[in-house]
Amino acid sequence: MKTVITGGAGFIGSHLTEYLLKAGDSVTVLDDLSTGSLENLKESWDHAAFTFLEGSILDREAVRQVVSGSDRVFHLAAAVGVHLIVDHPLESLRTNIHGTEVVLDACLEAGADLLLASTSEIYGKNTSDRLSEDADRILGSPLKSRWTYAAAKGIDEAFAHAYWREYGLQVSIVRLFNTVGPRQTGRYGMVVPNLVGQALRGEPLTVHGDGQQTRCFSYVGDVIPAIVRIAEEPATRGLAVNLGGLQEISIIELAERTIKLLSSTSEITLVPYDQAYGTGYEDMRRRVPDNSLAGRLVHFKPTTTVDTIILRVAKAMLSTAPGEVHAGAIR
Ligand SMILES: NC(=O)c1ccc[n+]([C@@H]2O[C@H](COP(=O)([O-])OP(=O)(O)OC[C@H]3O[C@@H](n4cnc5c(N)ncnc54)[C@H](O)[C@@H]3O)[C@@H](O)[C@H]2O)c1
Repeated sequence: MKTVITGGAGFIGSHLTEYLLKAGDSVTVLDDLSTGSLENLKESWDHAAFTFLEGSILDREAVRQVVSGSDRVFHLAAAVGVHLIVDHPLESLRTNIHGTEVVLDACLEAGADLLLASTSEIYGKNTSDRLSEDADRILGSPLKSRWTYAAAKGIDEAFAHAYWREYGLQVSIVRLFNTVGPRQTGRYGMVVPNLVGQALRGEPLTVHGDGQQTRCFSYVGDVIPAIVRIAEEPATRGLAVNLGGLQEISIIELAERTIKLLSSTSEITLVPYDQAYGTGYEDMRRRVPDNSLAGRLVHFKPTTTVDTIILRVAKAMLSTAPGEVHAGAIR
């Protein structure tokens, strides 16, 4: 199978690249290295069936050339992370809306199947017990740049769905809920790498708001095989499928567990949202997935616990920056 992964130098994309190379695909990664890195691809770099192209999904001709002759595209390239979205709203909107349209057109022309990476952010402030795929979206004002990521990904889904309905493009969509694991960077506001890094360095763990907001983290190693099965399952065409973790945990509890598991001497500092992200920032109090569609269609059953995730992220950080952190209990 000839596979293209946009955003393959990123956190999830680099794990997907390794997984598909092992499965026997030839994989071409297109990435502009804005948040991804070649370091993420070092396990794949020397593989005979691996090709890397530095370029943007906004470059229509480059995308056409990469996608032509391929069987399928995993479209993961996006402007991701609260800091990036809030600080660069225009660039993020262009990448996340126009870039997806460019990829859709290239797939249509090449006759390639498409897997689109969407997000649980599209549910916005809906705090339902279990968010199913047809749940209502409750978003703040589009003038608040925090919501532009959710708005753009919602448009991406609508675009992809319309290409399926009107042109017959073979499209499947995954809505990822807080996917975490080694290689995720804390630079743009991701909570797990930030807390683990702070705990390992003995710095205060910064928790936004009152810390009572909850999330369900899923491990990248549980999510990647499910993404691939969804791409390969004809019954998912034209659908969006949730992929989330099982364990609901508050951010304050996540910080406490991180400190305990890593035998850190750090304390927890609460930082008001306004201070972290600017005036008027809004967050959602909880976000809990209903994974039953993924269970039915591709037998998705995440198993990695939050504690295991914390330990694996810490171990990976220690192996890449051993001098900067305190090893604590996980040597
Ligand atoms: N990690 C999560 O919790 C999560 C949750 C929901 C959805 N997602 C989605 O999964 C995908 C991957 O996210 P990630 O967490 O790996 O983030 P990431 O930032 O590590 O990966 C995004 C990749 O896209 C690349 N990129 C950005 N703009 C580009 C452009 N114009 N052209 C080419 N490449 C470009 C970046 O360099 C990076 O390698 C994204 O589409 C994201 O929206 C992730």
